[in-house]
Amino acid sequence: MSTGPTTITLRRPDDMHLHVRDGEMMRAVLPFTAARFARALIMPNLKPPVTSTRQALEYRRRILQALPAGVRFEPLMTLYLTDRTEPAEADRARAGGGILGFKLYPAGATTHSDAGVTDIRRVDAVLSRMEETGLVLQVHGEVADPDVDIFEREARFIDTVLSPLAARFPRLRIVFEHISTRAAVQFVLCAREGIAATVTPQHLLMNRNALFAGGLRPHHYCLPVLKSEADRESLLAAVAGGNRRFFLGTDSAPHGRAAKEAACGCAGIFSAHAALELYAEAFEAVGGLERLEPFACEHGADFYGLARNSGQIRLIKKPWEVPASLPCGADRLVPLRSGERVAWQVADEPPGATPAGAAGR
Ligand code: DOR
Ligand code: ZN
Repeated sequence: MSTGPTTITLRRPDDMHLHVRDGEMMRAVLPFTAARFARALIMPNLKPPVTSTRQALEYRRRILQALPAGVRFEPLMTLYLTDRTEPAEADRARAGGGILGFKLYPAGATTHSDAGVTDIRRVDAVLSRMEETGLVLQVHGEVADPDVDIFEREARFIDTVLSPLAARFPRLRIVFEHISTRAAVQFVLCAREGIAATVTPQHLLMNRNALFAGGLRPHHYCLPVLKSEADRESLLAAVAGGNRRFFLGTDSAPHGRAAKEAACGCAGIFSAHAALELYAEAFEAVGGLERLEPFACEHGADFYGLARNSGQIRLIKKPWEVPASLPCGADRLVPLRSGERVAWQVADEPPGATPAGAAGR
């Protein structure tokens, strides 16, 4: 990577945790990711969820069709694990091409997780088949028990589910998604081989005060919820330390404005419009810009056994103002940093502009 005071050139990155939804919403958000990332692991929590290889391949085709003309982007797929998933589905997924694993949503833990797993022991047979075939388990790591304090749900999940699971299936490859606590960082650092974690821009850039800054801030609400400053510092130290177990996964999760600004607003932060730029801010803040390229472009690909991407993307340090909202069908989308500045921008892209092909569709 060549760094200068105002420019960074890096290999084209991968977003290893992304929600693009479907239909109009997908057409609105996908160009932002495709303008920055060569590939992304697409989350399967649609309504209804993407539970079979056949559904995942159809969804993959819809994503490719929604890309702006001439844009190259590879969707990587994962299937939604349910209590009823059969071990044979793991074999079909393995044979399907471009399906990297299964996503574990504990039932009730987050957005569109009601079809998720009610007890991890119910999927032991599938996990065993995944372990044999080398499919990866992506984990939403929070217990769903409403009696557990919301800030403790990740730590509780490590103790009661993840740690025993990693021991029961010693060769199962696991990605602990969107980690948000010091406890999760410690777990990953000390875990056996084959365990890694994704980290989002919001958990690197904000702590829980951002949920209440000047009033209730629904656009800063995601799950796992933002944690303390000590947790944020621990995440920053982990990614800037260069450990190969940590890699980029934005968890960009669009919801229309009305669904966010509601008495019971949805969890999810949309960050795809400035994803790489926001990570650059976070790494720069701790003097770790040279670690951005391995985090964004190497560790994820290496963990999944994929070739690193060719091609490059250039970021320049030139502040720009994020639009207050973005079009998304008949609704609007309120992006992270709405109406505020982002310090970096992608060179050769008009900052904040809807990428070519997205407008008016
Ligand atoms: O904040 C979140 N939004 N966390 C999740 O786990 C799901 C996501 C979504 O799909 O909106
Ligand atoms: Zn997610």
